[in-house]
Amino acid sequence: MGTLRSLRCISCGTEYDPAKLDYTCPACGPRRGTLEVLYDEATLRHTVTRDSFAATGRASMWRYEALLPIDDVRHVQPLRVGWTPLYAFPTLADEFGLAGLYVKDDGQNPTASYKDRASSLVVIKAQEKRRPIVTCASTGNAASSLAGFSAAAGLQAVIFVPQRAPEAKVAQLLVYGAKVFSVRGSYDDAYDLAAEAADAFGWYNRSAAMNPYLVEGKKTGAFELAEQLNWQPPDVVFVGVGDGSVVSGLCKGFEEFARLGLIERIPRVIGVQAEGSSPIASAFSAFHGGRVEYDDVDAHSVADSICVGKPRDVVKAVTYVARNGGSFVTVKDDEILDAILALARSTGVFAEPAGAASYAGLRKMARTATLEGKTAAVVVTGSGLKDVASARQRVGAPIVIDPTIKEIERHL
Ligand SMILES: Cc1ncc(COP(=O)(O)O)c(C=O)c1O
Ligand SMILES: [Zn+2]
Repeated sequence: MGTLRSLRCISCGTEYDPAKLDYTCPACGPRRGTLEVLYDEATLRHTVTRDSFAATGRASMWRYEALLPIDDVRHVQPLRVGWTPLYAFPTLADEFGLAGLYVKDDGQNPTASYKDRASSLVVIKAQEKRRPIVTCASTGNAASSLAGFSAAAGLQAVIFVPQRAPEAKVAQLLVYGAKVFSVRGSYDDAYDLAAEAADAFGWYNRSAAMNPYLVEGKKTGAFELAEQLNWQPPDVVFVGVGDGSVVSGLCKGFEEFARLGLIERIPRVIGVQAEGSSPIASAFSAFHGGRVEYDDVDAHSVADSICVGKPRDVVKAVTYVARNGGSFVTVKDDEILDAILALARSTGVFAEPAGAASYAGLRKMARTATLEGKTAAVVVTGSGLKDVASARQRVGAPIVIDPTIKEIERHL
């Protein structure tokens, strides 16, 4: 059982009793007042060791139960979430001038995205809080993930997605038995509507950033990057950024491991945004300590999962990435689509656009030589099968033939 201590506002620092507050700091409001989950680290320093995780016998993110805020592991769903493969590609690393290149394939989670790490945990929080109906707005992955984990736990999910969410993600929602509202509007519109509905009907809200426990699930990717590399995490970690919660989770995970003495240095986390949807990268450029300032944008990108104009975890993302020496980089949609093919053809890992954005960011940064001699990891946050239409924009059609050898010869 995690030694949960309090929830602390990222902006004003007020600490709240987790039993008394579900979402954000009432004084700072939903954007500035996102909450950090704090633990009793003095106790954890005595109980948590490098060996204690493997000793749980779990090949899932629940091997880190000691650092997660749930009351009872008996609620953990049977689905295997996390402990996803970390592949090494030494030849590709050489091509980039890197000392090592690793791909963390989170497309292999139960519903095929990184979001499963957060959903697994938040569904348990809903059960602990005796909230049988859970809701969220999502560009698609958080929703399909919540729908899947709700099904596994016997909860009802009510989902709000923008009308342009990719077909496969919507199909997942319906297959898992969620009640699905396809909102005529953007993801940002769907987000506000879900929050209003959660309030009106008493549903437990899993929408990005406002629920403090999401980042806790998302930090487990960092734990795995450290443990799977024998406690020598990579120098640099690339990840696609929309609302900013995944990148915040990775930073928090590395920081917690460092404070507990499990790793010696904290990797630089590089958040990758699509050029047409990069308000967090802009806020980061303007940040020089103190208050995080941000401007919302009208977002456009082929990478639907990170097409977010009004990022809800911008304050945390900018604060955390700056604190650990990371940065942000933006990539064009064309570079993202190229990265899908480049990644698939050099590693065998097929990513959706937002999942390949991390690789597009690495390719762009490698050209400026700032990565020379470093070890780097690319987090693939979603499977390519989530959005085949985008990938098909970059590949030709198959060759249609009659079933004869002659026909094959004609095309060779
Ligand atoms: C595949 C994928 N990659 C990256 C992200 C970015 O996560 P965040 O919105 O927390 O920045 C998402 C979020 O939906 C996603 O689905
Ligand atoms: Zn506050």
